[in-house]
Amino acid sequence: MLVEIRQLRDQFDSELEKVHSPEEAQSVRIKYLTRKGLIAQLFDNLRTIPPEDRPQIGKALNDLRVHAQHAFEERLAEVSSGEKDQGAKLVDLTLPGRPVWVGTEHPISQTLNEIVRIFTRMGFDVAEGPEIEDDYHNFEALNFPPDHPARDMQDTFFVGEGILLRTHTSPVQIRVMETRKPPVRVVVPGRVYRNEAISARSYCLFHQVEGLYVDEGVTFSDLKGTLVFFAKQFYGEKIRYRFRPSFFPFTEPSAEMDISCFLCNGKGCRICKRTGWLEILGCGMVHPNVYKYVRYDAERYTGYAFGIGIERTAMLRYGIDDIRILFENDVRFLSQF
Ligand code: PHE
Repeated sequence: MLVEIRQLRDQFDSELEKVHSPEEAQSVRIKYLTRKGLIAQLFDNLRTIPPEDRPQIGKALNDLRVHAQHAFEERLAEVSSGEKDQGAKLVDLTLPGRPVWVGTEHPISQTLNEIVRIFTRMGFDVAEGPEIEDDYHNFEALNFPPDHPARDMQDTFFVGEGILLRTHTSPVQIRVMETRKPPVRVVVPGRVYRNEAISARSYCLFHQVEGLYVDEGVTFSDLKGTLVFFAKQFYGEKIRYRFRPSFFPFTEPSAEMDISCFLCNGKGCRICKRTGWLEILGCGMVHPNVYKYVRYDAERYTGYAFGIGIERTAMLRYGIDDIRILFENDVRFLSQF
């Protein structure tokens, strides 16, 4: 009942606010304040509620009636006076403004933007590509053999014949090289999709930042120098690092980069699974087969590429232990960042 009273009051206030003539004000009065009006109807309901609640409800109703009567008289006076700018008197310029709640940047965006900033300071451009890709850019031109397991229905969301949701940002390497001549130096932030079982560690979509640098004379030591610089900027000067051999169809040699766990400083803890190391990215020298697809001269140019998983990075950085919470948009979570 108290809720109904509250609602009726709000409804009355907003209707009264909209009136612009004495006639309109009167019709609001008739609707609410007469013997058969909406307020009187609520008074009738008083009989149906338990006697012990009546004093409280009765008082609320009375307050509503008194409020409505006063508000009506005031409004009537305003709209009757005929002065156009009467409304201005309603505005009290000395009142403090209503607060505007400013949102916060999502931890994924924060992490992604910070990574991109570090690379753009080193001279990388930002490139983007479509999330709906074709098999050619996502797999074939990246030197995935036709029977590669990643093409399987298990991992890839197919949209149509040969059309899919990109499973990584690497297809943008191909798109950039198709349209530009070396030197190319780009980072590619974006969303990727994988048809994996959803758990605390994996989700059906996530973000990556891809990097690509191709020019004459680019070597593995350029790759190391750049990625070590990045890691120190992002995780702090003190971290130690290592490169482990790995495999990707589109890079040769391929590596994964680990940094010493910044939580336990390499001693071994829950986050680094007692190894003292955290894997932060995959990388390698662009495979010569990839250059064939984009018609670059593989004798003349060399280059490196890398891919950084953003959710993983953000989770390590902010100590988040379930990836799904990043996609729930619960403000109680988001407002902590
Ligand atoms: N595309 C790879 C992945 O999604 C990461 C990667 C990018 C590896 C660039 C090497 C070079 O796992």
